[in-house]
Amino acid sequence: MAELAKRVKDLPPYLFARIDDKIAGAKAKGVDVISLGIGDPDLPTPKNIIDKMAEEIYNPAHHQYPSYAGMLSYRQAVAEWYRRGRGVTLDPQTEVLTLIGSKEGIAHISLCYINPGDVARVPAPGYPVYETGCMLAGGEAYKMPLRAENGFLPIFEDIPSAVAKKAKLLFLNYPNNPTSAVADEAFYRKAIAFASENDIIICHDGAYSEIGFDGYRPLSFLEVPGAKEAGIEFNSLSKGYNMTGWRIAWAAGRSDVIRALGTVKSNIDSGAFQAVQAAGIEALLGPQDIIPRMCAVYQERRDIIIDTLNEMGWHMEKNKAAVYVWVPVPKGFTSESFAEFVLDKAGVVVTPGNGYGAAGEGFVRMTLTINTERLREALRRMKESLGAVAF
Ligand code: MLT
Repeated sequence: MAELAKRVKDLPPYLFARIDDKIAGAKAKGVDVISLGIGDPDLPTPKNIIDKMAEEIYNPAHHQYPSYAGMLSYRQAVAEWYRRGRGVTLDPQTEVLTLIGSKEGIAHISLCYINPGDVARVPAPGYPVYETGCMLAGGEAYKMPLRAENGFLPIFEDIPSAVAKKAKLLFLNYPNNPTSAVADEAFYRKAIAFASENDIIICHDGAYSEIGFDGYRPLSFLEVPGAKEAGIEFNSLSKGYNMTGWRIAWAAGRSDVIRALGTVKSNIDSGAFQAVQAAGIEALLGPQDIIPRMCAVYQERRDIIIDTLNEMGWHMEKNKAAVYVWVPVPKGFTSESFAEFVLDKAGVVVTPGNGYGAAGEGFVRMTLTINTERLREALRRMKESLGAVAF
């Protein structure tokens, strides 16, 4: 039997594939599992988007290969969305690329710049694909610790200049997964200065840019002066428009980086289904009232989680954005043992923080993308099985 390539042998199983196995195991034992695991919106895709898809699917032009870079009309819609919502100007021809979900773009960007032995800086804890994309390219991911005392922002001054100079890519992600931290303009300005001093390309993952609470609106990286010269932003319709299953996203920003990503992708995939891109145009340029309604639902769920945990003995502040709550584990538990405990005793799945790298140890992540009544039930069961907790 052919031996697996080292890059595959070195790859850990995907975090949520492991969690799916746990869920299947508990369900097989007859447990009524409530999953606060993956961030996958339970709210439906808005009707106007579905209607557009239903209409477009009959267009025979969509049944053939799509264009590699994506339909120009979709890229124009992305540019228009940035102009209307963020005041950012983008050339749809050279500064926007259609992606089949931002996960593939994030994985493929390392293939554009990372040679074996090259370095990408990744946040720790962080979305696993920043690191595994770099590993698949033969590179090394150097971790930038995100610590609670620094608002879960990396401190660029702490990176020795010899180390900084080695890196080619710098991954950032705010609102952040898994910590739900946010970044302000001053932070992005520092990141841009650091990247320009050290000749590093910033790859900002803005997947949660539309989800803010209590009147807070997260920034897009591209709104910050100098961002378009410093790198690109990945974003997607998954979380902002409840379209995770549709696999439609984009990368936007620095044109040479967009071109490189387009070159790699044209050798790997054949583009996104055009009917889905047409539905994406409807999402981006159609009625936007879904966004405040969705944020209100998530805000209520955030309050249910944090208020209940605080009644049990936690001391948590309310996060301003994202679809996650990053929860420190009580005394006597590790991330894994706490996740096991709540699954065994309460039938509730939470994501162990160490699934986002060792720096996530001591935390679990709970998602807000679950039906509100089921969420209340999950918290009720957790309260019953845990009682009061200490830290
Ligand atoms: C998450 O829950 O971290 C994300 O939804 C997973 C993903 O995008 O793969």
